[in-house]
Order: sequence, then structure tokens, then C-alpha cells
Amino acid sequence: MSRRSLSRGRANMLHRGFRILLPLAILLRSTDAVDNGLALTPQMGWNTWNTFACNINEGTIIGAAKALKKLKLDEYGYHYVVMDDCWSLHERNATGYLQYDPAKFPKGIKRLADEIHAMGLGFGMYSSAGKMTCGRYPGSLHFEEKDADLFAEWGVDYLKYDNCFNEGQSGTPLISFERYERMSKALNKTGRPILYSMCNWGEDSPWDWAPTIANSWRMSGDIVNVFDRYDDRCPCEDYICRLPGHHCSIMNIINKAAPLGQKAHTGAWNDLDMLEVGNDNLDYEEQKLHFTIWAMVKSPLIMGHDIMHTSDQTLEILTNKDIIDLSQGKWGVGFRSYKRGKSQLWLQDSKDGSGDMVVAVINNGDQERGLMIDFADIFLDEWDRRKVEYQVTDLWTKEDLGLVKDELKVKVKPHGVFVGRLKFTGDPKMKPKTKKFHGGPDEL
Ligand SMILES: *[C@@H]1O[C@H](CO)[C@@H](O)[C@H](O)[C@H]1NC(C)=O
Ligand SMILES: *[C@@H]1O[C@H](CO)[C@@H](O)[C@H](O)[C@H]1NC(C)=O
Repeated sequence: MSRRSLSRGRANMLHRGFRILLPLAILLRSTDAVDNGLALTPQMGWNTWNTFACNINEGTIIGAAKALKKLKLDEYGYHYVVMDDCWSLHERNATGYLQYDPAKFPKGIKRLADEIHAMGLGFGMYSSAGKMTCGRYPGSLHFEEKDADLFAEWGVDYLKYDNCFNEGQSGTPLISFERYERMSKALNKTGRPILYSMCNWGEDSPWDWAPTIANSWRMSGDIVNVFDRYDDRCPCEDYICRLPGHHCSIMNIINKAAPLGQKAHTGAWNDLDMLEVGNDNLDYEEQKLHFTIWAMVKSPLIMGHDIMHTSDQTLEILTNKDIIDLSQGKWGVGFRSYKRGKSQLWLQDSKDGSGDMVVAVINNGDQERGLMIDFADIFLDEWDRRKVEYQVTDLWTKEDLGLVKDELKVKVKPHGVFVGRLKFTGDPKMKPKTKKFHGGPDEL
């Protein structure tokens, strides 16, 4: 049922006085998704902001796209080159359209998009659901259709849509929903499939309402390249948050994201914010942990480092096919099974009926630790799968750890992660039936 016919149906029901059916309509609506055929797996790409902030121009973006191609990152799935804030002039033109800054983009945005397309990549654009963008350029609030039309005409494939200067139009899910829905409708009306990446910082619980209008939604304040640190600019430690802020550390975001995986589904993902892999300040172990969990919870994987100067270590992390497969492959959305002191157990079940499982163990403490994971904790609901041997592969070292039964013993470096793929070797008849993942209640 399309959204449009659903709301028509709902109006009829109300008209006839069948008010009792309203909760059912809402339930059905909550499993609906933005129907643009995009982000069937979490989107991957690169964004200008974390390295260049407002210092962008044609050269930055073409240079980044060329670097992405040269490093063959596109072959690993990194597809979108996203231009963030500060691309426009400070005024709209006489007929109310946004204007690109001709000093930064002498060839114009359409030519830029054409060049990106000619490289086989997608081009991403930025605006804000507010009066201004965060960098104080004109925002798209009340100009949704004009801006969407212009973006479509320019050949935009992706819109990152921020939340700055929203003029107080937030505070309840409905108010935020209506503000973001306007752009969703405007994008749809252009007829061009444009991936809609909502950046409202997790305000007003977007995981409850954004799946019907957007391909992804940020679930917390802005990330900072710090592993684990409390900062009053990001005061919340829990996913329900009245003041999302910025300078949220990797562990802060992981802890907020842990319960939200159940809200994600095909075409509709929790966005844990751009990757800090390859940026200063995080060590090798911390970067691997960061990339692993972003992949497991199926966050968009949008790089943010200085791509034109990518180190071998950064490339090694970003092109680990086994980790990328956790995001793009046969696995359901990862979830945290437990948290105990400075260790966490994360799981990701296969959804192809193979019986395979991914197990990740985080050590966010400062000492290397040996940890034992009981199969009863891994196969919490799958009793029959506990008694089977599994062939274990470490997805970072690629080491074959042999056949393992009953428990898994791992050593995890400080601020590190162990992540292993457990290959089912039991009686095929014992394999669980394929579970279709949908992240919401079943339709009645
Ligand atoms: C617009 O929405 C309709 C109905 O959900 C959908 O079938 C169509 O593919 C969408 N078009 C675009 C361009 O997103
Ligand atoms: C404003 O910009 C739009 C889109 O680029 C263009 O079609 C229109 O002609 C411009 N209006 C004026 C008055 O320059």
C-alpha cells in the first residue's frame, strides 16, 4: 500500500468513525519505507566535511573523486562523493533559487556532477532543513521544492539534509517528521531517485518515523575523532537525548546506537555519522573497532579522511572485504548481546539460512584482556546451534582459528576488537530456517 493511498484510507476510516482502526494504520505505516529503490544496503562513499570543512571547491571534489578511483575504493563499494556545506552563495537569486559560488565552482555544479558521473560515481549535495545551513548559507526550509528541483536538474544523486537553524521546528516527533517529510516529498516529485540522508542528530527519535521518508537518519550528535571521552558538548550517554550536540566520541556513539539496530531495515538505516578512519588521534586498534561496529550495525560507511593522502594503514582498514561484507552482505543488523564492565559482546546472525554467525568482542579498557565467550551467550535464542562446532576465522588477521565448540576464547588489545566469523559445520538439517529481516512488527 502506498503512503498516499494509506492516508486516504485512514481519512475514510476516520470519516466513517472507525477510530479503533487508527493504531493499526499507524502500525502499517511504521513498516513502510521511502520507496526510491536506493540504499538497499547502507550507502558508502566519501564526504568533504571532516577534512575540508568550508574550504571546498571544484578541485577538492574532483581531486577526491580521482583519488577514490585511483585507490579503487569504488570496487569495494564506496560510490558517493558528497559535497558538504559552504558550496553556495549567501543569497538566493531573484526567483528564489540557490546559487553555487562561482569563485569555488567556475564550471558550475552540473558540470561537476557530470564529471563525477563519468567516473562511475554518484554525486552528493548538502542542505539544511532550516533557515540557514550550519555554515550560515541559505537553508531549504520553505524552499523544499525549488531546491529539490534544482538538485535534480544538476544531476544530484544524494542529499545530506542537516538540522541547523530549524527555527524551533523540533521538540516532538511529529514536528520534526513534518519538516523532514517536506523534502522527502519534494525529492520524490522530481522523479529523480535521490538518496535521502537525514542529518537531524537523533533529535525526536527519528528511528521511529524517518524510515517512512528517508534512507538513513543520524542517531546522535556529531562524531569527533576521540575514542572514549565525556564532553559536555555531547552531554547524552543514552539514545534518548534532548541535546545531541557535537564532539561525541566513538564509544559514546556506539553505546547510543546499540539498542537501535532493531529499527533499521532495507533502505532505512541508522547513521552513526561519518567515519574517522584515517584521521588523527585514533590508534590502529581504535580505528578497527570503529569500522567494525559501523559495519555491523549497518551504518552508512562515509569516509571523511584526507583521501588524496590516504596511508597504507588507512587503506588496509577501509578495504577489509570481510568487514565491508558485514555491512553489505548476507548478515542481519548487528546488535549488542551484553555489556559487562569494559567488555561488550556484539553479534550478527546470517539471514541466508546457513547458520553462520559473526561474533565481535570489544575491549574498551586500557589493558589487553583474555575473554571467554560462552556459546550460550552467542546462541541465546538458537538452542540447537549451541552444541555444534564452528570453524572460526578472525576477520582482521584472517587467521583460521580452527574448530571451536562450547566457548570462544579471545585475546583483545586495549581499545580493540576481536571479530570472528563462525562457520556452521553441523548437520545441515539443524540449520535454522531463513529468517527474513525486517526490523519492525509483522504486518497483520
Ligand atoms: C516516489 O514515490 C513513489 C511511491 O512511494 C515510488 O513508487 C516512486 O518510485 C518514488 N519516486 C522516486 C523518484 O523516488
Ligand atoms: C535563478 O536560478 C534558477 C536556477 O538556476 C534559474 O533557472 C533562474 O533563471 C535564476 N533566476 C534569475 C533571476 O537569475
